[in-house]
Amino acid sequence: MMWRRKKFPAAVLLSSGIVLRMLDIAAEADAAGCRILFFSDTHFRYSLLRNRCSCSPLKEWSGAGVIGDALIRSVEEVAPDVLIFGGDLVSHTVLYPEAFRILSQLNAPVKLAVCGNWERKTRSWLPAGMIERGFRDAGFQLLQNETVTVNGVQFSGVEDFRYGRPVIPAANPDAAFRCLISHNPDMIGKTAAEALSGYHLALSGHTHGGQIRLPLFGAVLTSSVYWKRFEYGLCTHPEKLPVVVSAGIGGTFIMNRLFCPPEMLLVSLKLPQ
Ligand SMILES: [Fe+2]
Repeated sequence: MMWRRKKFPAAVLLSSGIVLRMLDIAAEADAAGCRILFFSDTHFRYSLLRNRCSCSPLKEWSGAGVIGDALIRSVEEVAPDVLIFGGDLVSHTVLYPEAFRILSQLNAPVKLAVCGNWERKTRSWLPAGMIERGFRDAGFQLLQNETVTVNGVQFSGVEDFRYGRPVIPAANPDAAFRCLISHNPDMIGKTAAEALSGYHLALSGHTHGGQIRLPLFGAVLTSSVYWKRFEYGLCTHPEKLPVVVSAGIGGTFIMNRLFCPPEMLLVSLKLPQ
């Protein structure tokens, strides 16, 4: 069985300069109407990140200020029911206080988060619990192999695939829609279809869309063991749940994004037509 991948069907440029990718997903009546805003891989850092060949007026930034303000404005403009952060908050540990200050200013009725591989890396030299406390104080519920049901939608977040011990919580049969959040999409690729049953959709980041994307080819490099399978977009499989992979906001290692603007993803649950 093969995975199929397609880009997001629609996008708009928010006044903040961040691109909003949009995806409508069919859901039962109890969950329909829920608007979920997902953003990932902010990677706040001091070195300059350049955003080249993109429609976004955000051409370069460093630290947390410029991109943090853009995030705050974007969330205000979209006004989601549920806001989800997909992991990899900072690359430079000293920026955690600033990053958590920005997270605290993102306004949404419900705010959820999962850890990425960078939270795992930085945790090893920070006081235990500092990262968890930072998310909590910023109003985010951190889901580490945990689950919460909001507005008829079950959200289950798992630990990072490479550096944590992901365990998928049991699907809640009373929830009209069940959403799995895994920083790294490889977890979906490596998990048997039976273990994923009961869930309707997975949200992931991690690959940054490759950061360097070539026209007609896409990502040159990805941080996935599957290379281009989960590089970006909506990935479907006849036996598994669909995985949506966001290109995220920031960058690591290569301090450039090419044809790969910073983005957020809006998933709108709608009644089937
Ligand atoms: Fe990342």
